[in-house]
Amino acid sequence: MDQDLAARWVARWDTQQERYIADREERFRVLIDVVEHVTGDAAEPFVLDLGCGPGSTATRLSARLPHARIVGVDSDPFLLALARASRPEAAKIDYRLLDLAEDRWHDPAVRGRELDAAVSTTALHWLPPERLAVVYRDLAEVMRPGGVLVNGDHFYDEQPGIRALTAAVKERRATRAGVDGNEDWKSWWAAAAEDPALRAIFSDAELRGTSTGYGNRLSQQAHAKMLLDAGFREVGMVWQYGDDYVLAALR
Ligand SMILES: C[S@@+](CC[C@H](N)C(=O)[O-])C[C@H]1O[C@@H](n2cnc3c(N)ncnc32)[C@H](O)[C@@H]1O
Repeated sequence: MDQDLAARWVARWDTQQERYIADREERFRVLIDVVEHVTGDAAEPFVLDLGCGPGSTATRLSARLPHARIVGVDSDPFLLALARASRPEAAKIDYRLLDLAEDRWHDPAVRGRELDAAVSTTALHWLPPERLAVVYRDLAEVMRPGGVLVNGDHFYDEQPGIRALTAAVKERRATRAGVDGNEDWKSWWAAAAEDPALRAIFSDAELRGTSTGYGNRLSQQAHAKMLLDAGFREVGMVWQYGDDYVLAALR
């Protein structure tokens, strides 16, 4: 795919995603701060990006930590094609079509190498709890002691009053930031499906995306318990706005 075409659709993706998280860029910065802190002066830290989509996180990570070796994993061929075509030339990023719902997905992702960090943004809520527990165990298995998982995602609050409050705070933030009128998820996909330049390359099925609209509704406490059970040593939140968090889990 042409690099300019991909870059246009990735930019449009980023605007669309900001509709749902006004402080997405700050969340990226915090997530990368954690990776930078934990990987220290390692010559070539090895980092996985889970549910990388069109590469928004991996690209930013690579721009700040150009010495990092990054593997982005996603099950959506169209989003991965955007990621590959828009990858900056110097970036040490590989993108692999892999489904986190399949057993041993991590073998082809890490290929025998020890992980220094794993990152994910707005993706792990797509996995059912029992499947996410397996993915957490898989990550613990291949991560070096002291390595980190950093997950930026929205978490569910079991308390209805607090849930309503975080939703209200988020809505007001979106209005103040002027992102509440941004193109939404459905419109982005509909526009992609109608773009003749994309239709010439991708099938109708690929341009429909793989989203089922599922969300696992796991709370921060549920994530923490699953991670400790999986073998991570410490878990905590390093950033929050409304129901959006950056969780860090140390192996
Ligand atoms: C909302 S997008 C976020 C993409 C990117 N991380 C970002 O922040 O822009 C969620 C991503 O998770 C991916 N995903 C969902 N379920 C997956 C699975 N079972 N295996 C791999 N990727 C998955 C989707 O294909 C999609 O790219």
